Amino acid sequence: MQLRDYGRVIARRWWVILLFALVGAATAYGLSKLETPMYRSSARLYVSPLRPDYGLTLVIQNLIRSYAQQITSDKSLARINESLRLDLSPEVLRARTSVAGTADNLAIQIDYDDPNPLTAQRVAHALARNFVEEHQRRMLVVEPRDKIEIDIFDEPKPGTLARPRTMTNTIAGAALGLVLGLVTVFLLEYLDDTLKGQESVERFIKLPTVGTIPRIAGAGRGAARRHLPFQLGASGGTGAMVASGEAGRLINHRNPKSPVAEAYRQLRTNIQFASLDTPLRAILFTSAGPQEGKTTTLANLAIAIAQTGSRVIAVDCDLRRPTLHQLFGVKNGTGLTTLMVAPTLEELYLQETEVPNLLVLPTGPLPPNPSELLGSRRMAEIIARLRQEADYLLFDSPPVAAVTDAAVLAPQVDGVVLVVMANKTKRELAQRAKAALEKVGARLIGVVLNNVKYDTSLHNYYAD
Ligand SMILES: Nc1ncnc2c1ncn2[C@@H]1O[C@H](COP(=O)(O)OP(=O)(O)OP(=O)(O)O)[C@@H](O)[C@H]1O
Ligand SMILES: [Mg+2]
Repeated sequence: MQLRDYGRVIARRWWVILLFALVGAATAYGLSKLETPMYRSSARLYVSPLRPDYGLTLVIQNLIRSYAQQITSDKSLARINESLRLDLSPEVLRARTSVAGTADNLAIQIDYDDPNPLTAQRVAHALARNFVEEHQRRMLVVEPRDKIEIDIFDEPKPGTLARPRTMTNTIAGAALGLVLGLVTVFLLEYLDDTLKGQESVERFIKLPTVGTIPRIAGAGRGAARRHLPFQLGASGGTGAMVASGEAGRLINHRNPKSPVAEAYRQLRTNIQFASLDTPLRAILFTSAGPQEGKTTTLANLAIAIAQTGSRVIAVDCDLRRPTLHQLFGVKNGTGLTTLMVAPTLEELYLQETEVPNLLVLPTGPLPPNPSELLGSRRMAEIIARLRQEADYLLFDSPPVAAVTDAAVLAPQVDGVVLVVMANKTKRELAQRAKAALEKVGARLIGVVLNNVKYDTSLHNYYAD
């Protein structure tokens, strides 16, 4: 992974990182608000030998550690509790008290935290005073030359807010969320085994990308009927084919130079250049799984080819879930299966569309044994007959992973295009689809990477 790739991984799921950071910040903020505010009051004691003596100073430095223990001993805490009527156990008092000895400048700092700032001050004061008095009592029996004096240097003031540190906690929460978000994003990237761009298609499927089709705005799931008229208008303004008011209106509003229409024209050019010596005239469109855009790609490509003046027949060989006729707004009463049982191939049941030069052969009534029909001698005859009728035959089919139909058809056509839906098609499934097609001797032209996010700011497609 290069630096650029890291950037892409983050850019693709930046919202996950943001979400984690926000949740982290909100949680830390909420927890801080739940915490009882504690006010801290501090007393500073100064430790000095009566007679400045270097050796003694060293001793004191060690002593300071034991002073800290004396200050928080059960006995002295119990005494403070009693004298101030705090009604707190020595454990609670100890937890709220912290003693730090700084041996360098011979000082002891006593901090006491309490929900009440004035109580904090009283207790801090009592802790300091109690210790100093105790110490002075002990010094009575010490030789004057060894005496150590302890004074209260800074009298404690009313407590100031010590906890919660809402701001610090919120920033720390956001930072932790950010890190967790980054970890999650890279983990998701690692676990994500879908094909994303040209680079991953080449790396994992080892097929060239013959087309990159951007995501069609407003063509969500189940909107198959709607986006064709937009394509039509966009790719040359032939007019609406499906006479739905909404769809019809779309054309007038859309930009005829839309990148989507241009992408289909680019696909047309790439397929035409894929084989100059033996032109690819009969092309099968399939995909690994369902709903990856086979029919949409085929239909738009058919229009783009027809617009160059070549005669195109779009043949619906998806004998399980045919949709091509819906897309072109033609009836499906007769079609391919009618031809299968027709005594002669005189009448081809082709249906005209509003695009000049583009004919559709729908499926006709659905048979119980699609694979058998598609592999029959009759099917080969139909294809041969259709070749006489048009310059290009485009065959729609069901997904390879689900049924054998596409694999049965593949050897009968000049080339196969594998449609991959970006960020949806799994690498392994696409690899298996490719293997299944290669096994039957199919000629794989390449992959159409469908539904790719078009980055308007970069005028480019999101690749891997
Ligand atoms: N480039 C695209 N941008 C946005 N939506 C798309 C695009 N291509 C396809 N779709 C949507 O994805 C869905 C499936 O498309 P389509 O019917 O073409 O796929 P399919 O592979 O033929 O499906 P099936 O396996 O059912 O035959 C449709 O709702 C369609 O609108
Ligand atoms: Mg389809």
